[in-house]
Amino acid sequence: MTVQAVIGGQWGDEGKGKIVDLLTSRAEVVARYQGGDNAGHTVVNPYGTFHMHLIPSGIFSSEVTCIIGNGVVVNPQRLIDELVVLRQHKISIERLFISEAAHVILPFHPILDQLEEESRGNSSIGTTHRGIGPAYTDKAARVGIRMVDLLDEEILLSRLTQMVNAKNRLLTKVYNHPPLSLHEIYLKYLEYGRQLAPHIRDTRQILMQALREDKRILLEGAQGTMLDLDFGTYPYVTSSSPSIGGACTGLGIPPARIQRVMAVCKAYCTRVGAGPFPTEAEDEIAEGLRERGHEFGTTTGRARRCGWFDAVAARYVVDLNGVNSLAITKLDVLDEEPVVRICTGYRLNDAVVDYVSTSQLLWESLTPVYEDMPGWQSSTRQVRAFEDLPEQAQTFLRRIEEIVGTPIAIISVGPKREESIIRQTVF
Ligand code: IMP
Repeated sequence: MTVQAVIGGQWGDEGKGKIVDLLTSRAEVVARYQGGDNAGHTVVNPYGTFHMHLIPSGIFSSEVTCIIGNGVVVNPQRLIDELVVLRQHKISIERLFISEAAHVILPFHPILDQLEEESRGNSSIGTTHRGIGPAYTDKAARVGIRMVDLLDEEILLSRLTQMVNAKNRLLTKVYNHPPLSLHEIYLKYLEYGRQLAPHIRDTRQILMQALREDKRILLEGAQGTMLDLDFGTYPYVTSSSPSIGGACTGLGIPPARIQRVMAVCKAYCTRVGAGPFPTEAEDEIAEGLRERGHEFGTTTGRARRCGWFDAVAARYVVDLNGVNSLAITKLDVLDEEPVVRICTGYRLNDAVVDYVSTSQLLWESLTPVYEDMPGWQSSTRQVRAFEDLPEQAQTFLRRIEEIVGTPIAIISVGPKREESIIRQTVF
């Protein structure tokens, strides 16, 4: 029996969707544990190209049970839109289960997300405006609405009445924004509940049953550890826990049952939104990486900030999450670079440190120390075995393994499933 978690090892957008898609051919259950439709991954498979935000990529494998855990915040309209696309492609959706305890994104959450961002002025976080922060805020404040509430007319009306009245006071009195209609929201969300009812379950029990039956279970994180609410570059983070602790609280799986944790990292780094990014490259290099790596957000279309592989941050991610293997994605994006860089330390005043700080002030005052290596300047797209990679690429990857102290199990050299080098089987 194996429970394998796949988490983001950088600031999100590492290509987890492709790695999860690759691994699901061997999985029996795929469970997503946090975030919402702020995440987005593009999956290219024989059915076509899909831009998914909420539904785990496991849905494309006909035998896999897919779970959206209690730690996820669900925008029901977005979920229904994704289900419609899947149905159009004749992909079975009967195996998708959404936790009844998952919180729901309501119409005022994206509005408040945007208004709060505007009010932050120069210190805005650069959120996705999907209402993620406000929805988790309401969850923590114990006023949120959960999937199960959508299934009961009376409970929904009573909880919505309380919530909409409070939010309308906030919208009109603080933000000078027109109020929203309780009646419209109620009818809309009741209808969402009706449509999603066949999928709403106690997903923890489904997982427990899978554990008892020794099934192969894949836990799928969204975003990345460096955006973790507790361990990321606070306050420039998302409002959930992409790190491994989030898998336990976001699914109800006991920590000791998670045997393997894989961190997905790009062969370079990107970040969307504001906040510390020590290895951000100067314009010309960043531009090249962005163009070749198509580094524009799946969710917002925003241009991603681009830079070099940060081995200090990667080692922090490995330590924090107990990572036992890495997946390095988008190696091919570096194919044309004459020189490739790995950040091995941070210079802070006169000293070089090799650890990550939780203080914003420190983050902003450090500069990266790089190890420069010759690039391979040839295409890796067709390569399917590590030994067939150009020597310089092998050296680059081995050096990452050495500094980060973790073996690389998978190397991705293109968006398609087959454009992968598998060095270690996972299940
Ligand atoms: P929020 O999650 O929309 O509240 O945004 C908070 C921060 O997390 C912003 O910097 C976003 O750009 C970033 N973020 C949220 N989701 C993703 C993602 O899927 N990939 C990369 N960055 C993300």
